[in-house]
Amino acid sequence: MIVAAQGPVAVLIGPPGSGKTTVGRALSGLLGRSFRDTDSDVEAEAGKSVSDIFVDDGEPHFRDLERDAVTTALALHDGVLALGGGAVMDPRTQEALEAYGRAGGTVVFLDVSLAVAAPRVGLNQARPLLLGNPRARWQALMEQRRPTYERLATVHVVSDDRPAQMVAQEIARTLPTYVPKESRA
Ligand code: S3P
Repeated sequence: MIVAAQGPVAVLIGPPGSGKTTVGRALSGLLGRSFRDTDSDVEAEAGKSVSDIFVDDGEPHFRDLERDAVTTALALHDGVLALGGGAVMDPRTQEALEAYGRAGGTVVFLDVSLAVAAPRVGLNQARPLLLGNPRARWQALMEQRRPTYERLATVHVVSDDRPAQMVAQEIARTLPTYVPKESRA
């Protein structure tokens, strides 16, 4: 079994509303590792919210910051890493995730249905790409991105409306280095 020599213990990808942050935090807790997400890294670097970056500087600028955030986190973070929903569409990010996966890293596609994701994202005005008609926008983005999520993932987990803890446990069991609590010495 190959185990990634360095980098995150797992990288979560998937659309807005799939629970990357909630599940990612639960997984971090299970593994006793820290959690990091690229949206927060971008916000810290820019000194403003993702929404404000979209409005003030435009999406291309956001994507540049996001690509840098992903590259840095893949190199430096050794805990659980969640990527913003659109990060995987960048070709260089795709190459980096493919290399990470080939080296034994775990890329988890957190899959979710529109019915479950819509109420989560529809009320959240912090997602600039979904403004207007969140359900239709989400569906269009998911159709466009699903093949990429599936191609890059080494593990595919349906999160839907299951408790984050349960989803996190399912992911943990796929990790090469995970030892369940009941089996720990
Ligand atoms: C985006 C998803 C957001 C954030 C930005 C763009 C997208 O992250 O990066 O608003 O393109 O789907 P979440 O997936 O955490 O909502």
